[in-house]
This record gives sequence, C-alpha cells and structure tokens, in this order.
Amino acid sequence: MRIAIIGADGQLGTDLVEQCAREGHEVIPLTYGDIHIEEWDSAAAALTAAKPDAVFNAAAFHNVPKCETEIDQAFAVNARGPLNIAKLSEQLGFVHVHYSTDYVFDGKKQAPYVETDAPNPLNVYAASKLTGEYFALNYSPRGIVIRLSGIYGRIPSMMKGNNFVSIMVKLAAEKPEVRVVTDEILSPTPTSEIAEKSLAILRSGEMGLYHLVSEGECSWFEFARTIWDTLELTTPLVETSVKEFASPVKRPFYSVLDNAHYNRLPNVQPMTHWKEALVKFLNAHYKNTIQ
Ligand SMILES: NC(=O)c1ccc[n+]([C@@H]2O[C@H](COP(=O)([O-])OP(=O)(O)OC[C@H]3O[C@@H](n4cnc5c(N)ncnc54)[C@H](OP(=O)(O)O)[C@@H]3O)[C@@H](O)[C@H]2O)c1
Repeated sequence: MRIAIIGADGQLGTDLVEQCAREGHEVIPLTYGDIHIEEWDSAAAALTAAKPDAVFNAAAFHNVPKCETEIDQAFAVNARGPLNIAKLSEQLGFVHVHYSTDYVFDGKKQAPYVETDAPNPLNVYAASKLTGEYFALNYSPRGIVIRLSGIYGRIPSMMKGNNFVSIMVKLAAEKPEVRVVTDEILSPTPTSEIAEKSLAILRSGEMGLYHLVSEGECSWFEFARTIWDTLELTTPLVETSVKEFASPVKRPFYSVLDNAHYNRLPNVQPMTHWKEALVKFLNAHYKNTIQ
C-alpha cells in the first residue's frame, strides 16, 4: 500500500513511518514544510501528488493551554484540517486515519469510556478535536478516528517539546523533589504500539471510531512511580493533588478509555498493559542513558 503520513516528524508520526516501512508499505512522509492541513490548496496539492491508498493524520495543535487563547488556530488545525482531509479522501478515494483524544470526555463516568459514550469536552482543545472527529467520519465513507491517551514515544512531542517520561527524567535530574498528582487517572500508551495497532485497524477494513490505549489505568503519580522504580531515580517523588496546581484549563479527572471496538476486530492482538509497555519502553530508550 502507498501510505502518506502527515506530521511524519512528530512523536506519533515518527513511529507510524517506521511501522509502515517495517510492514513493507511505500511511505510518503509529509511534514509541515510539505503540507498545511488547514489550508485547502496546500492539503489538496500535497495529497493529490502523493497518490496515497491511505493517509494517517498525526498533525495537531495540541498544546492545551495555548488552545484556550489561540482558539482560531486550534479549530483551524484540529477541525478544518481533518475536514479538508476527509473531503480529499472522498474525492481521491483514499482511506484516512485521524487521531483524537481522551479529553473529549468530561471524566464524570468514573469507569472506562467506550466509543458509544457521549462526549462532553471541557476545554477548547477537546472541543476542536471532537469537531475534527465529526468531520473526519461524516465527510468521507473511508474515515477511521482513533482516540488516544497520555502518549509517549522515542521522539518527544514536537509541539510540546516533551512528553511525560522526558519531563519526569529532566525534573528528577534538576529538582530537589518532584511532585506528581494522584487524582488524574488515564491510560498512558506508547506511540510505537499505537502505530502497530493502527495498521491492524487499517488492515481490518472496518471504518469508524476506535479507542486505542494501553490496558489498565493509573494516576500520573503511578505513571511517575514506575519511571522512578525502573530507572532507579533517587530524587524524592511526592504525591500531590491537582488542587496544588492552579490551571486556567479545565481537564477531565478520569479519562480512561476501553478499546471495545478494537477488541471486537478479528485477528488482532490486545493492547499491552500500561505498566508492562512503559517498563519495556524505559528499558529500551532510557535505562543506560541515566547517570
Ligand atoms: N500528547 C498526548 O498525550 C495526546 C493524547 C491524546 C491524543 N493525542 C493526539 O495524538 C496525535 C499525535 O500527537 P503527537 O504528540 O505525535 O504530536 P507532535 O509530536 O506535536 O506532532 C505533530 C506533527 O504535526 C505537524 N503539524 C502541526 N501543525 C500542522 C499543520 N497545520 N499542518 C501539517 N502538519 C502540522 C508538526 O510539525 P511541526 O513540528 O513542524 O510543527 C508535527 O510534526 C495528535 O492528534 C494529538 O492530538 C495526544
């Protein structure tokens, strides 16, 4: 298959490029220099030239506090972008895979969210991503939307310049102690496994909305605790509450996703448990780099 990857130098995009190549696909990596997804002419020119059978869109405006003040840009990239790609998917005949977020939920369910649960976005980022989901699925019959949570990869996020693992390792080296919240619960997931399982979803040929996160759930503190234990960090790690960090942005306190749709697909491997996946990632990419 000929697969174009938008946001190819990003955290998830990098792993998508590698996974597609590993599986023998012809890869067309597209970066911000090649395509601005929110501009119709740019998107149409790049995707027409690429002649893809499938397009993965890993591009996003996902700095959550910035989205609160740069609302037009958030909606341009996260909503108009997938609208353009969906329209091109309809016109040119490619399947498009779009990525969204656990933040479309308000967290009040306090139990893992399935794809049929009603979203209720609490902030601009989440509202713009939810709008993008509707466009991705309703403007093309060949759309797949995959919601993710707490992603981390070898190349920390291009937009944020970091991910939770890289921030924790940095803080442990620089600060006398590190304080992490116990009252926000999620399903942290490595981008390498997202890439692998996204291709399994594409292969299934079944369009629609998917949740794709590691099995199990944890607080940000438990996520950090596993980093400390695996990398044998000695800086004190202290439990705290979100109440300690005044934030202008409302976020869900509970955003665990249930991979219900994915798990119903035939011939797919279940997602790995978050702790097993995290330990494997740390051993592969950090273990021998920490002094
Ligand atoms: N981070 C999380 O924990 C989390 C949680 C749930 C869902 N997600 C979703 O996961 C997806 C992937 O995130 P990520 O961390 O891999 O992102 P990332 O590392 O920031 O990568 C995004 C890529 O998109 C490119 N890009 C940005 N704006 C663009 C535009 N207007 N047109 C074309 N390309 C553009 C960026 O290029 P430049 O670097 O050159 O700007 C970058 O290569 C996103 O959809 C995000 O919303 C993330």
